[in-house]
Amino acid sequence: MGNICPETYPDPFNFNPDRFIKDGKINPEVTNPEAVFGFGRRICPGEYIAVDTLYVLISSVLAVFDVSVPKDANGNPDIKPSFSIGLICHPDPPKCSITPRSDRHKELVQNLLNSDPTNE
Ligand code: HEM
Repeated sequence: MGNICPETYPDPFNFNPDRFIKDGKINPEVTNPEAVFGFGRRICPGEYIAVDTLYVLISSVLAVFDVSVPKDANGNPDIKPSFSIGLICHPDPPKCSITPRSDRHKELVQNLLNSDPTNE
């Protein structure tokens, strides 16, 4: 359970992806949270396909949509993630707004939806 200790990740329940970045690059001094895939002889063999699939999924979404967070009264991002409690703990669905980046992107997505025969 070392990876959720504040000694490893200061302020671990604060959503702060910047904790992994230093001078615009991945900071090798911060532990990689790869333990989610297990370790040793039974380590998850799907780790690379899982990470690469997530990369393709996230970059495809960001290529055509703006994903924005709710703002507080001062116009600052208002992100307070909450988590389920139990043996397996996962983030609750976040509040966010997902809109096409432009009319061109909207048209691209609409054309893809229209050309999908399963989307009648
Ligand atoms: C984000 C996605 C995934 C996570 C977080 C994850 C996590 C894990 C974890 C924690 C284990 C147990 C490791 C251990 O016992 O030490 C495991 C086992 C396993 N995972 Fe994944 N996994 C993911 C995706 C996948 C994918 C995409 C595949 C296949 C394409 C896969 C196939 C397997 C298999 C076959 C095992 C059993 C390995 C064994 O017991 O020898 N996983 N995974």
